[in-house]
Amino acid sequence: MVAKSKGRKTAKASNNAATAQGWRAQTRMIHGGVLRSDFKETAEAIYLTSGYVYESAEEAEAAFANTKPRFVYSRFSNPTVQMFETRMAELERAEAARATASGMAAVFAALMCQLKAGDRVVSSDALFGSCQYVIAEILPRFGIETVLVDGRDLDAWRKALTKRTTAVFLESPSNPGLRIVDLAAVADLAHGAGASVIVDNVFATPLLQRPLELGADLVVYSATKHIDGQGRALGGVVLGTQKFVAEKLQPFLRHTGPSLSPMNAWLLLKGLETLELRLGQQCSHAKTLAEFLGQQGKIETALYPGLKSHPQHKLAMRQMKAGGSLVTFVVKGGKPGAFRFLNALKLILISNNLGDAKSLVTHPATTTHQRLTPEARAAQGITDGMVRLSVGLEDLADLEEDLAQALKAV
Ligand SMILES: Cc1ncc(COP(=O)(O)O)c(C=O)c1O
Repeated sequence: MVAKSKGRKTAKASNNAATAQGWRAQTRMIHGGVLRSDFKETAEAIYLTSGYVYESAEEAEAAFANTKPRFVYSRFSNPTVQMFETRMAELERAEAARATASGMAAVFAALMCQLKAGDRVVSSDALFGSCQYVIAEILPRFGIETVLVDGRDLDAWRKALTKRTTAVFLESPSNPGLRIVDLAAVADLAHGAGASVIVDNVFATPLLQRPLELGADLVVYSATKHIDGQGRALGGVVLGTQKFVAEKLQPFLRHTGPSLSPMNAWLLLKGLETLELRLGQQCSHAKTLAEFLGQQGKIETALYPGLKSHPQHKLAMRQMKAGGSLVTFVVKGGKPGAFRFLNALKLILISNNLGDAKSLVTHPATTTHQRLTPEARAAQGITDGMVRLSVGLEDLADLEEDLAQALKAV
C-alpha cells in the first residue's frame, strides 16, 4: 500500500511508514505506523474520506484486481486506520492487524471469518457477557458446536479438546471474575486438536501480556477500553499472522463492513501515546486499593491478580507483567449491600465501561452479565455482592477515601 522505510529510526518524509524496528514499547506507541503526508504534519492526519480517486479507468481496474495496491474504499482501508493498525501490530509484535468499529466487532470477525457450519469451538466459560452471547447463542444458530469449559481447569480443556476443533476462545484475566487461563498450556492442547487460539486480551492490554508469544494465534482487543483510555471512542482490533489476515480476516471485514471510523482511529492513536504512563499508575493504584479493600470488614473478598491472595497469583505473574487496572470484590449483604455501596460513592462513577481515566464501578450481576441465568453467573463466580472497580487516574487518597466512606453505607 505505502512503501515502508527499511529499518530506519526516523519516519521518512512524505508517504513513507515509520518502522518501529529496534524501538521499545513506549516509543512504538508514539511513532509506530506514522504515514506523514507532504504537508509534514507532526500529529497524524485524520483522513475523513470514504473513497479515493483514480488517475484513469485502468488504474481503477488495477486497484480492484489487486495488482496495484492502494487505498480503494474506507470500508476496507484508510490511511488513519492503517496507522492505528500498524502501531498496534508493532506494539503486539504481530505480523498484521485489522481495526474494527468496536471490540465486539473484533471478536465476531475473529471467529466468523474462519468458521463454517459443522465446525466446533471450545471456549472458557468466564467471558464478557456479549462474548458469551456470541459463543453460546449466535454460533450454534449457524450449525457450529460450542463447548464451554472452566478456563482454570486444564483437565476440562484436555477433555474438551480430544475432538477435532476449529477455534478456541478465551479471556484472561476474565471479566469480571479475574480468572486466569494458562495461555501456553491451553494453546498447546488447542493446537493438538487442530484449533486456532483466540485470546481476548482486554483486561491485560498489550503491555502486560503478549498471548502471541505464549502460543495464541489471534489476539483481540476492545480498543474502547485502555487503548483509548479516556472514554471517547469505540474501537476494536484483531492481530495475527499476515497469512491469516490476508486470506481470512481481510475478505470478511471487506465484505461485511464493521469498519473503524478514521476519526476514532485517530483518537485511538492518541490514546496509545499515553497508554504506558496511564497503565503504570492504574496498576500501581489498583494494587494498593485491592490491598485496602481486602482489609475492610464490609468486604468478603477482594480479588487482584497482582496480589498473593489471588488463587491464581503465581500463574498470573508468570504470564503478566502486572496485575492490571481492575479490582473485583464482594461486598457483604448481596445485591442490597452492593447497591448501597455503589449509590454511596461520591467520586467513583457507576458505569459499565472500564479502562478509563475516571474510576468506574460496575455491578456485573445486574448489568454486563444480567442476561445470564443465575446458574451461569454462579459458574463464572459472579455473585450478587460482586463489584468490579476499574481504577482511573485520580489521586489515590481521594479514591481510598471514597471507597471507605461508601463502605460505611453497606
Ligand atoms: C473482555 C471484553 N471483551 C470485549 C468487549 C467488547 O468491547 P466493545 O464494547 O468495544 O465492543 C468488552 C467490553 O466491555 C470486554 O470487557
